[in-house]
Amino acid sequence: MIPTALSATRILVVGDVMLDRYWFGEVSRISPEAPVPIVRIERREERLGGAANVARNAAALGAQTGLLGVVGQDEAGNAVEHMLADLKIDSYLNRDAAISTIIKLRVIGRQQQLLRVDFEEPPTDTVLRDKLTRFNALLPEYDVIVLSDYAKGSLVNVAEMIASAKRLGKRILVDPKGDDFSPYAGASVLTPNKSELKRIVGAWKTEAELTAKAQRLRIALGLEALLLTRSDEGMTLYTEQEALHFPAMAREVYDVSGAGDTVIATMAIMLGGGMSLPDAVSFANRAGGIVVGKLGTATVTKEELFL
Ligand SMILES: Nc1ncnc2c1ncn2[C@@H]1O[C@H](COP(=O)(O)OP(=O)(O)OP(=O)(O)O)[C@@H](O)[C@H]1O
Ligand SMILES: [Mg+2]
Repeated sequence: MIPTALSATRILVVGDVMLDRYWFGEVSRISPEAPVPIVRIERREERLGGAANVARNAAALGAQTGLLGVVGQDEAGNAVEHMLADLKIDSYLNRDAAISTIIKLRVIGRQQQLLRVDFEEPPTDTVLRDKLTRFNALLPEYDVIVLSDYAKGSLVNVAEMIASAKRLGKRILVDPKGDDFSPYAGASVLTPNKSELKRIVGAWKTEAELTAKAQRLRIALGLEALLLTRSDEGMTLYTEQEALHFPAMAREVYDVSGAGDTVIATMAIMLGGGMSLPDAVSFANRAGGIVVGKLGTATVTKEELFL
């Protein structure tokens, strides 16, 4: 496939939208109020996280990308909207006045993380119902659907979403979470990492045992494929025909956070462009290898991928 075909692919990302915040500062004294350091903030950074990072990765690869999710009616929600607009990602964010946008705030002083503050509340039922209606309305406009589940509550309707996407013959890729994968039944591809898979099928001692467990799960959920991402061991694709292993391709590893987001976004685009599953995984594995060589939750461009 030629890279230009990628820009014609329309990817709808649905899931838990988050904002990653980093506050950097100087620590010079201990608080008189409690035995804790005082950090005087000098610099702030913010990045799209969770499903929004998957969307950012899809857009960086040149796909026409939409993001459906829930944020609060707050300043962090506005920040997310602004970043999406800058990246030309179509934003379909429901603003839920009853909750805070999911924020992961890191306070960093003296080159180390001193504290992480999480703001998260599950979306309310009314907003979730609106989201499902909107999902059904958007479906016909997209080629591939990516469901990015971080177990924060915006994908409680995942089974209904899969069912309606399937009715329209769309490819559905899911990055799963939690201790029950049955709501993902009928999806095209599931992309758990090792710990996510272990929670479902239990530990394995040998590669043969892993293959048996992965294939049993794939069949039980009626998936076209299960893609296990294995960090520094690369990834393995389980299909009806085979278990195909792709060794990790990273030359240098700086930051592995968000690699899973890059992998699923790359898979979606390659499949949307008409590639076979093994070819799409081969590109996704390359993208994973490139992104871990960058600092921060980074992205990969199509130029880097097709070099
Ligand atoms: N340490 C590493 N060395 C080489 N490649 C890596 C490493 N970590 C990740 N990768 C690449 O990135 C892919 C996805 O990583 P991983 O299996 O850690 O996903 P993940 O746990 O979902 O990541 P995250 O949740 O942080 O986004 C791997 O399959 C591999 O291609
Ligand atoms: Mg992951």
